Amino acid sequence: MPGGSFNRREFLKLFGATAGCFVATAAAVPFVPRLGTARAAPGAFHFPQGLASADPQPDAVMLWTRVEAIDPGAALPNGDVDLYVQVANDLAFEEVVVEQAVRASAASDHTVRVFVQNLRPDRVYYYRFYAGGDQSPYPGRTRTAPLPGAKRKVRFASVSCQSYEAGYYGALRRMTNDDIEAPAEEQIDFVLHLGDFIYERTGDVPEDRSVARLVGPLPDGSEPWEPDGTHDWWRKGGQAAVTLADYRHLYKTYLTDPDLQAARARFPFVHTWDDHEFTNDAWQSYASYFANGEPAQKRKVAANRAWFEFIPAVLSNAPRFHDIAAPAHDFQNRNVDDTPMGAYDDDFLFEGDNARALSTLTIYRTLRWGSMLDLVVTDLRSYRSPPVIDENIDALIEGAPVPPVRVVKLLDAGRTANEGNPPVTISYGDREIENPRKDAPPGTHLGGPQKTWFKEVMKASTATWRVWANSCPALQVRLDFSRIPFAGLEDGYAATDAWQGYPGELKELMAFLKDERIGNVISVAGDHHAFAAGRLPVDPDAETLFCPAVEFMTAAISSSSMYSMADRATRDNGFFHRAVALQDENGTQANWNNTLVNGLRAGILVNYTSSDYLFDLVRNERASPGLDYIDSDAHGYTLVSLDEEKAEAVLVNVGDVQIDAGPGGSKVRCKAHFTVKPWTGGEEPVLEGPLFEGVPPYPWNREKKAG
Ligand SMILES: [Fe+2]
Repeated sequence: MPGGSFNRREFLKLFGATAGCFVATAAAVPFVPRLGTARAAPGAFHFPQGLASADPQPDAVMLWTRVEAIDPGAALPNGDVDLYVQVANDLAFEEVVVEQAVRASAASDHTVRVFVQNLRPDRVYYYRFYAGGDQSPYPGRTRTAPLPGAKRKVRFASVSCQSYEAGYYGALRRMTNDDIEAPAEEQIDFVLHLGDFIYERTGDVPEDRSVARLVGPLPDGSEPWEPDGTHDWWRKGGQAAVTLADYRHLYKTYLTDPDLQAARARFPFVHTWDDHEFTNDAWQSYASYFANGEPAQKRKVAANRAWFEFIPAVLSNAPRFHDIAAPAHDFQNRNVDDTPMGAYDDDFLFEGDNARALSTLTIYRTLRWGSMLDLVVTDLRSYRSPPVIDENIDALIEGAPVPPVRVVKLLDAGRTANEGNPPVTISYGDREIENPRKDAPPGTHLGGPQKTWFKEVMKASTATWRVWANSCPALQVRLDFSRIPFAGLEDGYAATDAWQGYPGELKELMAFLKDERIGNVISVAGDHHAFAAGRLPVDPDAETLFCPAVEFMTAAISSSSMYSMADRATRDNGFFHRAVALQDENGTQANWNNTLVNGLRAGILVNYTSSDYLFDLVRNERASPGLDYIDSDAHGYTLVSLDEEKAEAVLVNVGDVQIDAGPGGSKVRCKAHFTVKPWTGGEEPVLEGPLFEGVPPYPWNREKKAG
C-alpha cells in the first residue's frame, strides 16, 4: 500500500456513500474548460498527494491540493497549472456553491491553498479540484464551524508524531473508519495535529527494521555522517533535510500514504508544528545534532516555506479574536545567512538573521467553535530560549540518569534565581562550574510577544472551554531518584525538551490562570509518544498542589513509543531496566508507566512482589506531581468532546503499528476514558478516570492481591 495509488471505490467509504451513486453523479457533472491549461486532455495531470481542508471558520475554510503534470507540455509555458475547485452541499455535486479558479505555481511546487469564503456555518461540504480533463482522485469532505453563539457539542481528535519510516498510519485509518460508522452527532468536527507531521531525518528506523518503507534519498540532504558512536541513524546511512527540495520531498512522500490521505479527505485539520518539521529538538532557528545552537537559519526558512506549501492553515486571513489582533501570517520569503548564536541579551537572541528567519512565518492563532470552544494554538519552537542543558551542563551533571530538577530550575530562572541573587557557581556532586545563566533573563518557551498574546486570549475568551493546542506536554514526567536510598541521586525530569525545560514560565502561566480565575482550560499535547492524563500544578514542588488546568497527552500515530525508547536506553543497566520493563507471568509489562506515576520504589518493588500492601507502602503519589495516568507503550489518537456538562477525553490505543493494517485500519487495544466537569476559575478541576474498554495498560491491569 505505501506509495500506492487509490482505488476510488475505497475512498467513497470515507463519506458513507455508495459507489454507484458517486460514479453516476460524477458523470452527470460535465467538465467545462475554464482556464488556459484546462484544455488538456484527460490523463495530463494527477494529484498524488490528495487534498485537504483546514482551519474551519463559520463562513470559510482553507482548501488544499497539489497537482502534477504527467505530460509537462500540458502545463503553462512557465510550468504553472491552472485549476479550479468546486465546493458543493452534496457528495453528488448537484448543488455546487463555489466554483473558483486557482493557479498552482511551479514556484510553490504546484501546491495550492484556496481560502473559500461565503459558506454557511456548521455544515458539511464536499470539494474537488480539476486540472484540464482530470479531477482529484476522490472528493474531499469538510465542515464549517458553528456561529460563535451556537450552543452545540464539539468533538475533535488530537494526533501527533507520524514518522513514515517508524510505522504505518493504521491509527488514522481506524479514526476515519470509525467516524464514518458513527451517528452524525458523534462525528468529529476537526482533527488537531500537534506536530511532527514529518521527520526531517531519514534512516531513523526501528531497531529490527521491521517497517518496510523508507523515505529514500533526499534530493540534497546532509551527507550521512561518519559513525561517531552516538547517532545511530547516521550509521544506517540516514540523512537530514537541508534544503527546500528536501523538506518538499518529505511532505510529498508522507502524503502519498493512503491512510493519511483518507483522514485529510474526511476531516478538516488544524495544525501546529513540533520540532521535526524543522529539526530535532529545535529552538528558534538553531539545530542541535552535534552541538547545541548550530546555526540553521537557511534551513528554518526552507522548513517554514515547505510547511506553508503543504500544510493548509488560515494565517493572514485569521479573524480577530475579540479585540486581539491575530499575529499569524502567511509565509514571506527572506534572505538569511547561517549566523552563530550571539550572547544572551534581554530578549534571547531575537535579532539579525535569526529574527529574519523566524519572521518568515507566524502560525500561533485562535479558532472558535460556537459557544463551546476557543482553541488556542501555540508555536513552542520558534521563540523558546536556548535549552538549559548544553554541553557544559551535560558535563557537569554526568552520572545523573536524567537532568536534575534542581539544576534545571536554577538555570531556567537565570538572574531571577534565589529571589534575584543567583548563585555565582552551580554544582553537582563534587563538580562545580560558573553559573552560565547568572545574568540571563529567565527562560521562555512561548517568547515574550506570544506569552502576552496567550494571556490576553485566555483572559478574553468567553467560550465554555479553552483548549490549548500545546505541542509540548506540560504534565510533570519525573523520576524520583531521591527515594532510592544510598543512590546519591536527585529527582530529575524525564525530558527537558518540552515544558519541563521551562519550569519558570509554566509556573507563571498556571499562576496566571489561577489568579485571573480562568477555568475550563484543557491542554492537549503530543510530542512524548505516550498517552497521559493529569493535572497541571502551579508549583509542582509546593507542599500542597494547586492545579488550575488539566492535560491530555496523545501518543504517536506511528513514531517509536516512549516505552520502546526507554526500554532501549536502559537495556544495559539491569537495575533501571527493571523500572522500565517488568517480566511477569503475563509476559513483558510497560513498568515505565508505573515508575513515572507511582515512583521508582514502586517500579522496582513489583519485580519482587505483587503485594498491594507493600506497593501502597512504597508508592510515591507525588513522583510526577499531577500525573495521574500514562500509557507509554502505545500508538493512537485522542478523541475530545466538549459540552456544557463535561469534557471527555478518550485515549484510543491501537498498539503496534509496524505492520500495515490496510484499509481496515488498526484494531483498538484499549480505550481509556477521562471526564472533567466545568470548574469555576480559581478552583481546581476534578479529573475522573480512567475507565477502560479493552485491555488496560500496566499497572492498571494489575490484579489486586492481599499483602
Ligand atoms: Fe515526535
